[in-house]
Amino acid sequence: MTTADKLNLKKLDAPLGAEINGLDLTKMLSTDTVDAVLQAWYDNQVLVFRDQDLTPQQLVDFTAQLGEPGRPRMPPQTVRDIIPDLPPEIMIVSNVRVNGKPLGLAHDGEMWFHSDMCYAEIPHTATLLHAVDLPSEGGNTMFADMYAAYDKLKLATRDRLESCKALQVHDYKRTERPGVDLDLSKIGNFAHPVFVTHPETGKKALYVNRLMTARIEGFDRQESDALLEELFAVGEDPAIIYEHVWRPGDLVMWDNRCITHARTDFPHEERRLLRRTTLIGTEAPR
Ligand SMILES: [Fe+2]
Repeated sequence: MTTADKLNLKKLDAPLGAEINGLDLTKMLSTDTVDAVLQAWYDNQVLVFRDQDLTPQQLVDFTAQLGEPGRPRMPPQTVRDIIPDLPPEIMIVSNVRVNGKPLGLAHDGEMWFHSDMCYAEIPHTATLLHAVDLPSEGGNTMFADMYAAYDKLKLATRDRLESCKALQVHDYKRTERPGVDLDLSKIGNFAHPVFVTHPETGKKALYVNRLMTARIEGFDRQESDALLEELFAVGEDPAIIYEHVWRPGDLVMWDNRCITHARTDFPHEERRLLRRTTLIGTEAPR
């Protein structure tokens, strides 16, 4: 049996992504298996592992087999107060409130397309999300293929923006464009190339998104807004999107260098709780 067979990998019936059913992630994986998982991740951009019954520490341990786990930049104090033994690598993604205080940060309802930590100089490369509590409907995660977006752009647009940078910001919004008069001294921000080359696959990807990209440098606001709208329309084309409908026990891992993601709305009175880890990056996107 080859390592690829051991993964029991099946391409999703979608423009991207694959499901892996052959692994128990509570166990240590062999080096060959880790390599096969990483290769499958490069090839498919999003990996779905079903029926994984993982403690928070087991999620961290699995993440650490793939690379160096990141730590949330701003762990909400409330969650550490309520769950004191939560490993520092875990972020809780949830709308749940305890004594009126949110367990997670800005995790109610819909959230527009974005790339995690694109506002940092060296963003984390992977995000892993493990589903614990889910609403009866909605709260799906949509994944858009930024390689395909780059390929679909008009050649004239590609030429025009080839060496341009875009300002990425963390403005704590969920469904609003970054404000016009941003005080950059108060929020995370960094200018990255509009198009980036994935260091593992060598493929080019569009690296802007509706939620966190404030403007393209070197253009006046009107021109920048018009160009960004053109890029967002291509980057949010349903033809390049996989919409993941969560099941309890799903662990989904995606590549922030070539994927943007968004969340669909869900009933606000219902619980939604997922645990998140990341893998750190070692270089700025270029
Ligand atoms: Fe996100």
